[in-house]
Amino acid sequence: MELERHLPEELLSLLRSAGALAQGGNLYLVGGAVRDLLMGRLSLDLDLVLEGDAISLARRLTEGGGKVVAHPRFGTAKLRYHKFSIDIATARCESYPKPGALPTVKPGTIDDDLKRRDFTINAIAICLYPAHFGEPLDPYDGRGDIEHRLIRVLHEGSFCDDPTRILRALRYEQRLDFHLEQNTGRLLRRDVAMLNEVSGDRLRHELELILSEEQPEKVLRRAQELGVLERLQPSLKWDDWLAERFRRARETRHKPSSALYLAILAHRLSEEESRSFITRLGIVGRSAQAVRQAVELRQTLPKLDAPELTRSSIYHLLKGYSPEAITATAIATDSPLIRERLELYLSELCHIKPILNGDDLKALGVAPGRKIGEVLHALLDARLNGEVKTK
Ligand code: CTP
Repeated sequence: MELERHLPEELLSLLRSAGALAQGGNLYLVGGAVRDLLMGRLSLDLDLVLEGDAISLARRLTEGGGKVVAHPRFGTAKLRYHKFSIDIATARCESYPKPGALPTVKPGTIDDDLKRRDFTINAIAICLYPAHFGEPLDPYDGRGDIEHRLIRVLHEGSFCDDPTRILRALRYEQRLDFHLEQNTGRLLRRDVAMLNEVSGDRLRHELELILSEEQPEKVLRRAQELGVLERLQPSLKWDDWLAERFRRARETRHKPSSALYLAILAHRLSEEESRSFITRLGIVGRSAQAVRQAVELRQTLPKLDAPELTRSSIYHLLKGYSPEAITATAIATDSPLIRERLELYLSELCHIKPILNGDDLKALGVAPGRKIGEVLHALLDARLNGEVKTK
């Protein structure tokens, strides 16, 4: 492959130096970056594999400057180079002690390293050592599958070894506009129940990767079609309603966060279903809050639909809900009035504070105690309703 034609000069020279510095330990560019290059795209995340000590190569490569983050336990090192993020790993040989569990790893050759990979299109390496710089190593004919736009596993047990590949297959299929190769499709259907064996953390990670795709709805539709989505959570049902809401989310936010997408996904769930969704996928932090509150907020909607509602009543109905939960509800609702009120809260009301504080009130002679709270509350409402404008 003519790397010169595909890569910017600065990156090319780094790869050449890396290949030369590897000193007999063969070095390769592998994985998604190779796949993307062969499809005419430049990836900013590069994976290099060395048949040898990756960390010491990374250190030698950055001797003249540059920072390396090393993970000795995994034999990997990460460095930044201009806009590129480069991972260097020691070639590994993997075996799976039990389906769904993480593999047992030991150092290996590039052949071992390609053999452990998910799909043929991700199992192509390009030599970086000087004598063979730019030559492809493609034992599974990944280039043929790129040409025919196919997602193909390397062996019959691939999805059993690592059921998260089921989700990865759909993600690549939809992102690249490829198809599942026929036997791969059969294996995926055969092994879909293996997803039950996977930990919540790993499933959530894959779901978040799906949600950070440009059009996650395409992947989720496919996941529904193939019985994959129900394995993540039986109460999740993908349909046109959700697809439309996902598109709206992108009209509302430049790049919707996974918390926002999750809140939309959860909007129609019952409280119990949302709890089990959170537990099964180990959802935490902002995302868990958004999921929980999206369901709670749905129950508040009738109150937000009342014909006469002061700005302060809207404020008190929505106070405490996260922006993601409110945005998700605004995207979900069909009522223009409710949407307008939710948006009013986010754009204006939630930022309003009374101008005076407790100390100001004390200085004005209000006795310390409950009274101060009541006055502040009344002042806030008056500001919200536009009855008080100045100090
Ligand atoms: N890989 C794998 N099985 C997994 C995860 C990853 O075989 N469950 C391998 C694939 O060969 C993949 C590489 O590890 O190409 C790197 O994984 P990742 O960074 O997740 O994907 P990329 O290929 O870089 O693809 P992208 O980031 O574009 O999704």
